[in-house]
Amino acid sequence: MAEHLRAWARVDLARLAANYRALAASTAVPLMPVVKADAYGHGAARVGRVLTGLGAPMLAVAYAEEGAALRRAGIRAPILVLTGCGDGQQRDFLDHGLTPVVSTPATVRGALAAGRILGRPLPVHLKVDTGMGRLGFAPDDVVAEAEGLAASGRVEIVGLTTHLSSADEDAAVTARQLDVFDEALARLAARGIRPRHVHVAHSAGLSHLRPTHTLARPGLLLYGLKPRPLSPAVEVSPVMTVAGRIALVKDVAPGTAISYGGRWVARRPSRIATVFLGYADGVPRTLGMLEQGAFSVAARRAPVAGTVCMDLVMLDVTEVPEAAEGGEAVLFGDDPTAWDVGGWAGTNAWEVLTRVGPRVPRVYVGDTEATA
Ligand SMILES: Cc1ncc(COP(=O)(O)O)c(C=O)c1O
Repeated sequence: MAEHLRAWARVDLARLAANYRALAASTAVPLMPVVKADAYGHGAARVGRVLTGLGAPMLAVAYAEEGAALRRAGIRAPILVLTGCGDGQQRDFLDHGLTPVVSTPATVRGALAAGRILGRPLPVHLKVDTGMGRLGFAPDDVVAEAEGLAASGRVEIVGLTTHLSSADEDAAVTARQLDVFDEALARLAARGIRPRHVHVAHSAGLSHLRPTHTLARPGLLLYGLKPRPLSPAVEVSPVMTVAGRIALVKDVAPGTAISYGGRWVARRPSRIATVFLGYADGVPRTLGMLEQGAFSVAARRAPVAGTVCMDLVMLDVTEVPEAAEGGEAVLFGDDPTAWDVGGWAGTNAWEVLTRVGPRVPRVYVGDTEATA
């Protein structure tokens, strides 16, 4: 990596393309890639361009601002905004041609107001809460909501969606959610409301597609990590590798304390590497507090030594003779993976990916033209 960089997130667009192709080939419906949270830290504009270039018909983001940023980056594909149109956000939706999910009273108001300004029905997706307990209308209320929306003349329900709570953990819970969803779909159909986009499956949900579904909404698998413990059987590889440069290597005597609080104390003559990556860059501070976790230096594991600092982390490289100033220390990538780091830190791969800080430059590799 370029010498002037102190830390970087290497994003392999060829791997992203390969993951997309593998997923698309093994999924019966088209994929609507989830590129919220800056494409899980990978950079939404670059990721969105690659995936729409490969044929993704639609992208999903969480917030209108994310959709607007994709439009400014030149993405023309339909963009679904999962949290919908809040009060006062209508201009974002109309100026940028974004499609809201309607899932709360406020997002109903927001979408209706947008439709009024637009002067013709605004396409929306309606969300049912089938058991996630987050956003969406209760299954018993969906028909009334849909009929109210349709009667307004201000919106057109072009999609129906729900979100699965436990597809990576519990197939029975998932089957119940899917049954509730299919029932809602049938009740809507009985009233003549037949949305053309029907989507439920995130990454883990891809194992549970039903014939009623017309789209899927994967995120994590596209970025090369499998949900755990249950995942669809598809081969993917991690797209992002986060690494920092070694600022200093020093030998310390037994009894030497390292970092804030002096919690880590050398038990033997030790070599300590100080690395340009800290918790502001996405190194979980809990790695130091729980005395768990390691970076990879010269393909060997180097345990975290002491409290992780805001900008720096110290590693025990006593067993890594190759460790040297200017060398690279990998927080996550192929090894350790974001799941390994998540496990050490008491969290998951989604959080590890999305926590990579904005000051870590994303460096893109993999020829997008060749992969498109
Ligand atoms: C509504 C919704 N759909 C799809 C996804 C993508 O999930 P995953 O990254 O597990 O594929 C998310 C992510 O959190 C989500 O909130």
